[in-house]
Amino acid sequence: MKNLQIKTFAEYKKAYQKSTENPEAFWDEIASTFTWKKKWDKTLEWDFRKPEVKWFQGGKLNITENCLDRHLEEQGNKTAIIWEPNDPDEESRYISYRQLFVKVSRFANVLKNNGIKKGDKVCLYMPMIPELAIAMLACARIGAVHSIVFAGFSSSAIASRINDSGCKLLITANEVYRGSKRVNLKDICDEALENTPSIETVIVYRRTVEPTSMKEGRDKFWFDELQKVDKDCAAEEMDAEDMLFILYTSGSTGKPKGMVHTTGGYMVGTTYTFENVFQLEKNDVYWCTADIGWITGHSYIIYGPLAAGATTVMFEGIPSYPDYGRFWEICDKLNVTHFYTAPTAIRALAKQSLKFVEQHDLSSLKVLGSVGEPINEEAWHWYNDNIGKGNCPVVDTWWQTETGAIMISPVAGITPTRPTFATLPLPGVQPALMDENGKEITNLHEKAEGRLAIKFPWPSIARTIYGNHQRYKEVYFSAYENMYFTGDGSYRDATGNYRITGRVDDVVIVSGHNLGTATIENAIDEHQNVVECAVVGFPHDVKGNALYAYVILYDDVEPTEKLESEIKKLVSDTVGPIAKPDKIQFVSGLPKTRSGKIMRRILRKIASNDTDNLGDTSTLLNPEIIDEIMQEAKR
Ligand code: PRX
Repeated sequence: MKNLQIKTFAEYKKAYQKSTENPEAFWDEIASTFTWKKKWDKTLEWDFRKPEVKWFQGGKLNITENCLDRHLEEQGNKTAIIWEPNDPDEESRYISYRQLFVKVSRFANVLKNNGIKKGDKVCLYMPMIPELAIAMLACARIGAVHSIVFAGFSSSAIASRINDSGCKLLITANEVYRGSKRVNLKDICDEALENTPSIETVIVYRRTVEPTSMKEGRDKFWFDELQKVDKDCAAEEMDAEDMLFILYTSGSTGKPKGMVHTTGGYMVGTTYTFENVFQLEKNDVYWCTADIGWITGHSYIIYGPLAAGATTVMFEGIPSYPDYGRFWEICDKLNVTHFYTAPTAIRALAKQSLKFVEQHDLSSLKVLGSVGEPINEEAWHWYNDNIGKGNCPVVDTWWQTETGAIMISPVAGITPTRPTFATLPLPGVQPALMDENGKEITNLHEKAEGRLAIKFPWPSIARTIYGNHQRYKEVYFSAYENMYFTGDGSYRDATGNYRITGRVDDVVIVSGHNLGTATIENAIDEHQNVVECAVVGFPHDVKGNALYAYVILYDDVEPTEKLESEIKKLVSDTVGPIAKPDKIQFVSGLPKTRSGKIMRRILRKIASNDTDNLGDTSTLLNPEIIDEIMQEAKR
C-alpha cells in the first residue's frame, strides 16, 4: 500500500488528475494492493439516476483477511489496538495483530455456534472496549452484517433499529463506565428487547462485576460462550458488493436511515484515505477519539487503520474525566503521533485552563485531525497552537456516514491547510458546487457559495438505505440530476479550497452528533399535554449547535418548569440524552405557510437571536404569531 501514498503536492495533483480522467484505472491500481480471494471482473458500474453503484464486481474477499491475516507474517507481534480505560488507574490493554486475529476467529465461532450465518444481522450495543472491535470483526469474518448502535442511545432507539433490519442477535455489556458514572446497558437492552421479536440470543460481556439480570434461554455470557468453541475460523468468501454493515444516521423525517455499506469498495476507500490523509509511518500511534457507534469509529478506528496495519488507540472514557487533561495525558503516555477528534471536544477543552495541556508532553504528536462539523477559526488556532505547537498539520476532514470515507481534506504535510477549510478533494472525489438554480458553479478560480454535491461515484459510497431504496433515491439523488447531494452548504475560494458551512436540511449537528429534528419532534409530541412542536438548531459555543423546541400545549395546561423537565426527559428516554433540547419555549402557535408547513427558517432566526431581518413572511397564514414568539423567546 505504501507505494500508493502520495508524497508530494505534485503527486497529489497527478493522482487527482488520473482519478478524474480514468477513475477505473486509478481505483484498480489501489484495489490491487489488497488481498482478494478472486480478482474482480468489472471495476465500476453505476447510474446515479437509478441509483445504482457497484464496485469491483465479481471480486471475492473477506475484509478481516485484509485487517488481520495479511499482517501476521510481517507484523504479527505489532500492537493492533491499544485500549485505554475510562479510569486512568485501570491498566491499558495492548492487543497484537496475532492476538486480535485469534480473538476475532474465536468469537466468530461463538456467533456461528449461536446460529448466525452469512447475511444475518447482528446488533451491537457496547461500550468502547476491545470486545466491540472483536465482535464487529467477528461478524465480518463470517459474513454477518453488523449494525452498531451508539451506547448512548435509548431503549426505543435500539428497538427501532433492531426491528428495521431484523437483527437476530444482540451483543452488549452489562455496564459501561462513562467518567464518574456507571450506566447499566443491559437494563436498557432488556427494555428494548420487550419489543424486538427478531432477537433470539443476547450475548453479554461483563465489563463490571455487578450482578446482571439474565433471561434464561436467551441471554448468554461472552466468556461462557467462548469456552464452547475453538480458535480457528476460516474467513467467509464475500462478494465485493455483499453487505458489510448497516449504520443508522438521522434524516429529515422521523425515521433513521440504515445506511448500507458493502465490502470491497468500503475497504478500498477507507484504507486509501486513511493512509493518505494521515500519512502514518511504521511505528506511529494513531488515536481517533470518536465512538465506534458512529461512522468515524467504523472507518477510522477499526477498518481503515487495521487494514493499513497501524496501531490504533481505543479510549473508553470522556475528555473531562478525571480532569480536562485526560486526552493530553493519554497522548503523552502512549506517545500518540496522530490525534483525530471533533471540534466540539476542541472547543470544550479550549475553555479550560491551559495548565491541563501544559502538564503533559505532547512532543510525540505529528498530525492533528478534525471531523464531524465545521471547525471555527478560534478552535482551529487553539488546536494548532496549543496542541500542535504550530508543528502539526491540521487535517480538517469532511465526509459523512453516507460517504463511508473522507472526501475533502488536506493530505497531512503535503497539501496546504487553511483554517476552517477542509481544502481540496481527495483523489477519486469529484465535488460540484451548485447554485440556487441547481446549476453547477464550474469556475474554480472565482470564489463562490452554494450547495455541495458529488458528480462521480467513489468506492465507499453507501449503496442504499436498508429496506428503502426509494428513500435513498429521494434524499440523495433527486436534488440534482445524476449527482449525489450531500445536504451540506459550502463555500469555495478562488484556489478551489472548500469550506463546509453546515447542513442545509433539517439535520442539526449537536456536539458532533447528527440529529434529525423530526425525530425529536415526534418524541415531544408523544407528551400528553403537547399539541404540536417544532425543533430547530441554534449556535452554541461548545456544542456547535444546540436544540431549541417551540411547544404548543393544550389550552387547559399551565406551562411550568416541571413540564419542561418532563419534556426533556421524554426526549432523553426516547432518543437519547444527546438529543435533549437546551431551550423549550411554550408558544400559542407556530408560523405556518398557507399549505400548513412550519416556517422553520424564522424559528431558527429567533432561536439564534438574529431577528433583524426575518426575510419574507408574506406567505404566512398567521404572521402575528412571530411577535409573540419573539417577545417571549428564551435568550
Ligand atoms: O454537515 C457535515 C458534517 O457532518 C455531516 C455528516 O455527519 P455524519 O454522517 O454523522 O458523519 C460525521 C463524521 C464523518 C456532514 O454532512 N461534517 C462532517 N465533517 C465535517 C463536517 N462539517 C464541516 N467540516 C467537517 N470537517
